[in-house]
Amino acid sequence: MFRENGARYLALGLLVAIGLYFGLYTGGGVTRYESQCPSTKTHRPAAFESHKHVLDRILHDPDFRNESVTKLQKAIQIRTEVHDDDTELVEDDFEYWSKFDKFEEYLNSTFPLFYSHVTLHKVNYHGLVYIWQGSNQNLKPLLLMAHQDTVPVSEDSLSQWEHDPFAGYYDGTNLHGRGIADCKDQLVGLFESAEELIKTGFAPKRTIIYSFGFDEEVMGNRNKNAKWIEQQYGADSIYAVVDEGGVNLDTIEGVKMSVPGTAEKGYVDLKVIIETPGGHSSIPPPHTSIGMMGEMIVAIENLDIPTYFTPANPAYWEYVCVAEHSPQITPKAKKSILNSRFDKASNKDARKYIDIDLHKGFVVKSTQALDIVFGGVKANALPEYVELTINVRIAMEETVEIVSRRILGAVEPVAEKYGLGLTFRLNGDEKILDPKSQGHCLVNVVSLLEPAPVTPINDEEWDIFAGTIKHVYEDLVAPNQTLVVAPGIGSGNTDTKWYWNLTRHIYRYRPGQLPGVYSKEHGVNEFIPVDSHLHLIAFFYEYILSVDEAEDTTEFSSPLFQIEN
Ligand SMILES: *[C@@H]1O[C@H](CO)[C@@H](O)[C@H](O)[C@H]1NC(C)=O
Ligand SMILES: *[C@@H]1O[C@H](CO)[C@@H](O)[C@H](O)[C@H]1NC(C)=O
Ligand SMILES: *[C@@H]1O[C@H](CO)[C@@H](O)[C@H](O)[C@H]1NC(C)=O
Ligand SMILES: *[C@@H]1O[C@H](CO)[C@@H](O)[C@H](O)[C@H]1NC(C)=O
Ligand SMILES: [Zn+2]
Repeated sequence: MFRENGARYLALGLLVAIGLYFGLYTGGGVTRYESQCPSTKTHRPAAFESHKHVLDRILHDPDFRNESVTKLQKAIQIRTEVHDDDTELVEDDFEYWSKFDKFEEYLNSTFPLFYSHVTLHKVNYHGLVYIWQGSNQNLKPLLLMAHQDTVPVSEDSLSQWEHDPFAGYYDGTNLHGRGIADCKDQLVGLFESAEELIKTGFAPKRTIIYSFGFDEEVMGNRNKNAKWIEQQYGADSIYAVVDEGGVNLDTIEGVKMSVPGTAEKGYVDLKVIIETPGGHSSIPPPHTSIGMMGEMIVAIENLDIPTYFTPANPAYWEYVCVAEHSPQITPKAKKSILNSRFDKASNKDARKYIDIDLHKGFVVKSTQALDIVFGGVKANALPEYVELTINVRIAMEETVEIVSRRILGAVEPVAEKYGLGLTFRLNGDEKILDPKSQGHCLVNVVSLLEPAPVTPINDEEWDIFAGTIKHVYEDLVAPNQTLVVAPGIGSGNTDTKWYWNLTRHIYRYRPGQLPGVYSKEHGVNEFIPVDSHLHLIAFFYEYILSVDEAEDTTEFSSPLFQIEN
């Protein structure tokens, strides 16, 4: 009895101490019982009441739906696939790139009202930048984006498509076709929402820029839109950017969530190359370059990749929100996530929970995929050249240099064991092991992008953006549902990588009710529910209204792009 009481007092004392520790650690005031999930309030424009009938029409009118489907179908019927081996310069194959002329003609003929209210600037032939001039040049323009191109449909997969991928088949509920989810729905929906606004007599105070690239799916190197916009308006001249990406709606551990991307992981393509003297296969050395590469591959795959769960990663807040709102998360997981900023053991448990239990390792670490390997030319000749290509997506807490050197670290002992020279090429060549007659190994970073700067979420720009999502989904689409809007990390990259100099407020979000993976983005049988598309139009309609009511705190003066009459 006495011992039991003693234990109880000890436990109580510990709890008090821990409580004090957390209170002190966070500068007082905040305890682990207080909400950490960044709360978002519903935002609706002041002009809502006078536009409510239009939003109702967009969301519920059968004729509007019908017309919208027809516009989407036409967008799918114009094929705008791009391929990895496309010419870098449009000039080198005008014929090939002319499909984007056809696409632009479709836009012109389908959206005459939009065209009569904007100026169009073609950048690098097929980059489309539309400027809808606002009346107040002291307001920073809003920039809305999507891309015109799509990934290809491979001949081999055609038989697996239930409907012709370029017909734009509509089954009464869903619309099918290549590029409908990634992201012609976004592109077309932007035109539709603008036209609905124009029909009401709306004329923006704040300039709205629409920017559509044409090679997003093949790295986007031909996209000069951002540079052009920066030349016209200057650096840090944009109110906010909204582009594809993010998770529009999903249920995570029983919590209905919308997770726009407020950052993006970094990217590295890295090649490991071994060159050895050739010779006849009848008198081989104990290990050929292919054998050595095999050992390097095993070493790279066995690398211990560290996990992170820190506020440097927007997904940190996403999971804090899941922990706070989930009716089904285990008490242990909930506790470890909510304490993870204050306590090492909890942080470790939280990382394990997301990585292993939820199978979302890509959220908490850099990932690597060994994607291409080739070498050797003939059965009776020793391979002189072997090449491995690895794709790495970099966690917010790491850099191009860290992930590349980690792979170098796996390669080096193998190179040393076989007496190979070793060179590391990132910004210039770095000699790691001296050149040898046995052969040479090169670790070469061929393509790179650091993790994106993080969009802030403690400002009015975020409140309006996230609050509009809440309003559209909680009040218009499905009255009385509760939606948690939290920032998250984009696992893939978008054209926004070219826009970092223009604003800190970059939101990756394609409205709708199906995230890209469920819509079979890039896959066979890509589709969207047409309802999703109507939500998208309603979102941009309201978002433009709200942004147009917002004021800027910084001085700014923008150039004037007027329509010549
Ligand atoms: C739209 O309406 C027209 C006329 O009623 C009809 O012929 C057409 O099939 C409809 N289109 C869709 C996509 O429902
Ligand atoms: C749109 O098409 C019309 C008719 O072909 C043409 O006159 C006009 O110049 C086009 N607009 C733009 C911005 O290209
Ligand atoms: C939503 O909630 C309000 C107030 O609780 C109620 O009056 C209304 O009928 C509800 N709407 C729906 C569609 O459930
Ligand atoms: C952003 O600005 C910096 C400094 O002027 C420049 O070096 C960089 O190329 C710019 N980035 C992009 C994507 O244009
Ligand atoms: Zn895309």
